This record gives sequence, structure tokens and C-alpha cells, in this order.
Amino acid sequence: MQNQEKIIDMFNKIAPTYDKANKILSFGIDASWRSSACDQVLKNFNSSLNIADVACGTGDMIQAWINSAKKANLKIDKITGIDPSKQMLKVAKEKLPNCEFKEAKADNTGLNPNTQDIVSISYGIRNVVARTQALHEFNRVLKIGGYLVVLEFTKRDKSGPIAKIRDFYLHNILPAIGGFISKNKEAYEYLPRSIEGFLDSNEFCRELERSGFEMVIVKGFSMNISTMFIAKKVKNI
Ligand SMILES: C[S@@+](CC[C@H](N)C(=O)[O-])C[C@H]1O[C@@H](n2cnc3c(N)ncnc32)[C@H](O)[C@@H]1O
Repeated sequence: MQNQEKIIDMFNKIAPTYDKANKILSFGIDASWRSSACDQVLKNFNSSLNIADVACGTGDMIQAWINSAKKANLKIDKITGIDPSKQMLKVAKEKLPNCEFKEAKADNTGLNPNTQDIVSISYGIRNVVARTQALHEFNRVLKIGGYLVVLEFTKRDKSGPIAKIRDFYLHNILPAIGGFISKNKEAYEYLPRSIEGFLDSNEFCRELERSGFEMVIVKGFSMNISTMFIAKKVKNI
């Protein structure tokens, strides 16, 4: 599956069960990965903020931003959730009725240039076929000195016992459980394929640097299952 519209359609289909499957498949740990990323980035701010969460899905990263900002005593002026999947947005709007949402793809968000303090994309960039254009778009909408936060499952070295356990989980357990909950096994078979089709951490950092960003932090969570990339916009491209 590579065609962008097919990927979006797949998310439309699994949207009603996405949150439930996610919680079970990640044992609930994904919430801590999101909140660690938000806490870390917000340390760099002391005034009110504009945040765009791209590939927002059902809104969990937006909720993490709201919680972390509250903890840090920071005011969010505006937070915009962006996603091309109508059905994922429908769930997000039910959970976060006071937030603003836009139905759009990462490479054409419709946001004004140099307006965002933070752009985030959690477990979304792997699904963006026009990835280079999307990174250019993030550069375009961020202010100079603004932060891009990416959480993602990156391609890994396949040797060693941990890689074997991870592979077994991704190729066998995840499609079985995800398929059972969503009644859409194909969608959960796409996940390991999309990780293998993505970049490794170093390759992704080089892409970010070519898009006008300077790497600030790259950190693996939970035995490197998930990786957090924090990058700062240093120039317009
Ligand atoms: C795995 S979900 C992640 C959702 C959410 N960010 C989270 O952390 O749970 C991936 C999301 O990427 C969205 N997506 C797919 N293609 C996209 C694109 N080209 N631009 C923006 N979002 C996209 C899907 O609709 C889906 O909501």
C-alpha cells in the first residue's frame, strides 16, 4: 500500500476502533511517549503558543499538549489539529470539542507562513507519501526558532534478540489483535510494512537538516520502540 488515498481510506475504516486498539497494542505506553515529548519541548517556552498537530488522528497528541502546557503553566493561544481522514477527525472532534480541526494533508496544511511556535506529528510522518514536501511545509509554517516534534517507529537493524522479539510482535501479534479489534487485519499488516518502508533515525535526521532544521534531541523510548525527534527551524528554505 503506497497510494496516499488508500492509506487515508484505511484510517477512515479503522477510526472507530483506533483508540481501543492503540491502548491494547501499546499497553498504554504510547501516552507516556507523547507526554515526554511535549514536556521536553515546552521547556523552551515561557510565553503563549500556537501549535499545529499534523496527522492528529483521534487527537491524542493534542490532549498531550494541553496537559503538558497546563503542568508547565503555559497558555496555548491556538492549537490546530490537521488530518486528511474525515473519520479520524470525527472522533477527535468528539473528544476535543473546543479545538480547531482542518481536513488537510501534511504537505499542504493551509496554515499561514511563519505562524507556528510548534508543529508536531506523532506516528504520522510514515504515512505521508509526499514526505519531503511535508517537511518543507512544516518549515514554511513554523516561525524561525520554532520546534518540530516527530514521534515515530523507525526502521531498525534486524539483528539481535530484541529486534527478533519486536519483529515477531509487529508481524504476528499486532495484526492478529489489531485485526480482531478493528475487523480490518489488512490495516494492521500495513503497520510493520510501513515501518520497514520508512527511514532509520540517522537518515530521517539528515532529511530534517536538508529541510532547514537543526537537530536538538533524538531519543528512543522503551528499548527504542519509538523515537522522538526534536528539531529547531533555523532558516527558511
Ligand atoms: C497512526 S495515526 C496517528 C494519529 C495520532 N497522531 C496519534 O498519535 O495517535 C496516523 C494518522 O496519519 C494520518 N495521515 C495519513 N496520511 C496523511 C497525510 N498525507 N498527511 C497528514 N496526515 C496523514 C492518518 O489519517 C492518521 O490519522
